[in-house]
Amino acid sequence: MSFSAVLTTDAARIETRLMAALTGRADVPVVDAMRYALRGGKRLRGFLVLESARMFGRSDAIGAAAAVEALHAYSLVHDDLPCMDDDDLRRGLPTVHVKWDEATAVLAGDALQALAFELLCDPALGAGDVRVALIASLAKASGAEGMVLGQALDIAAETATTPLGLEAVTRLQAGKTGALICWSAEAGAVISGADPVPLRNYAMALGLAFQIWDDVLDVEGDAAKAGKRLQKDVEVGKATFVALLGLEAAKGRAKALVDEAESHLAPYGARAANLIAAARFVIARES
Ligand code: IPE
Ligand code: IPE
Ligand code: MG
Ligand code: MG
Ligand code: MG
Repeated sequence: MSFSAVLTTDAARIETRLMAALTGRADVPVVDAMRYALRGGKRLRGFLVLESARMFGRSDAIGAAAAVEALHAYSLVHDDLPCMDDDDLRRGLPTVHVKWDEATAVLAGDALQALAFELLCDPALGAGDVRVALIASLAKASGAEGMVLGQALDIAAETATTPLGLEAVTRLQAGKTGALICWSAEAGAVISGADPVPLRNYAMALGLAFQIWDDVLDVEGDAAKAGKRLQKDVEVGKATFVALLGLEAAKGRAKALVDEAESHLAPYGARAANLIAAARFVIARES
């Protein structure tokens, strides 16, 4: 199967798992908003979970794939709030606070975050110690040492008096985007009891390339394809590699990071073909 066929199949499985998790919940707006926020998306993080697990012969990682996509969906709902990036379009549809209201968006995000940890309790993921390791590492990756730290630095940089340097932008992006991508790629190794270090190194480079490409698309992407408002980062003074290096050098850096990501997969040989294809996809995508 081609990489794009695998990604499409995995995305459908993940969506089914997420919708199943919300079946039978109270018929209230916040649950409708959760379903709405969970739909769509490329499912790259969930794919990384499933593919890294498959590389070690495990085909039962769907709970962890759904978990990281729930966590990611929460981060997007909050990222779009008026007090954050103030966006009205996400995945081609009005954002949650536009369709409902801000309180519903805050609460749907909170509940999606809780849902992520609930999904990690799935016994199919392994023995208790494996599940605790997944829960603890996702908590760290998503909290004030990971995604939330990156988001806080991102917002603070908008009003900083001096622009951030290369090291500071790298730290910001490693948090806001890299931490969840790293968790996703490492999860397969954790579930399988394998060494997570090569996958961590792969994903650290991949995560930076992913965010650089998001910043490139903000400048020269097609909003209809991206499904979100573009050309906003310069306007609000976001600290990005594109702002720092210029468009062409930022693209060069993303390409170099993808090459680096691939090199870390050498220990896995041909088994890593889909993860290599995923890395190339990151800097070829239009959404
Ligand atoms: C968007 O993430 C937010 C960033 C971290 C750049 P994705 O580009 O993975 O968004 P979806 O899940 O495909 O919508
Ligand atoms: C969002 O980054 C990162 C998280 C949600 C953690 P961006 O603000 O650049 O993502 P988009 O461009 O709105 O998708
Ligand atoms: Mg943002
Ligand atoms: Mg945003
Ligand atoms: Mg962006």
